[in-house]
Amino acid sequence: MEEEITFTVPIRPDMELEVTRVASSVAEAMRLGKDKIDEIKLALIEACLNAFEHSKSKEKKVHIKIKMTDDRLEIIVRDYGVGFDPSKVKEPKIEEKLKSPRKRGWGLKIMRSLMDSVVINSHKGGTKIIMTKRR
Ligand SMILES: Nc1ncnc2c1ncn2[C@@H]1O[C@H](COP(=O)(O)OP(=O)(O)O)[C@@H](O)[C@H]1O
Ligand SMILES: [Mg+2]
Repeated sequence: MEEEITFTVPIRPDMELEVTRVASSVAEAMRLGKDKIDEIKLALIEACLNAFEHSKSKEKKVHIKIKMTDDRLEIIVRDYGVGFDPSKVKEPKIEEKLKSPRKRGWGLKIMRSLMDSVVINSHKGGTKIIMTKRR
């Protein structure tokens, strides 16, 4: 079995919450546990906020695909913005963050720690984040 839902949201305040509502309904329908659903929601919020805050997308939209299979849930967050080089993003370190005025920069790490896999595909035409949670 493989089914998918695709939709597009405008880059607007709180739209990440609409995205997580859809994803959590799907995850509930798949009978994933509450902990996994919470992890998916948090990772998805981070991915959406990154697209909202950093993509500079001219169309001001973010494209979501939620794929369900028997053994996993895959979520793709795609923007057609400026893109970035993930290998250039500095790994956050808690000891340094505590001393630094810049407390941001945890999003990618949070996503990677909450999901079973996170693949980032990014270039000048935009960014595609593929996140997977196994059942
Ligand atoms: N969709 C995106 N488009 C462009 N740049 C991005 C995107 N997602 C992440 N980035 C880049 O990766 C960096 C790290 O993201 P993150 O770990 O979430 O930290 P933060 O959002 O707090 O800066 C961002 O500062 C940004 O430069
Ligand atoms: Mg972020």
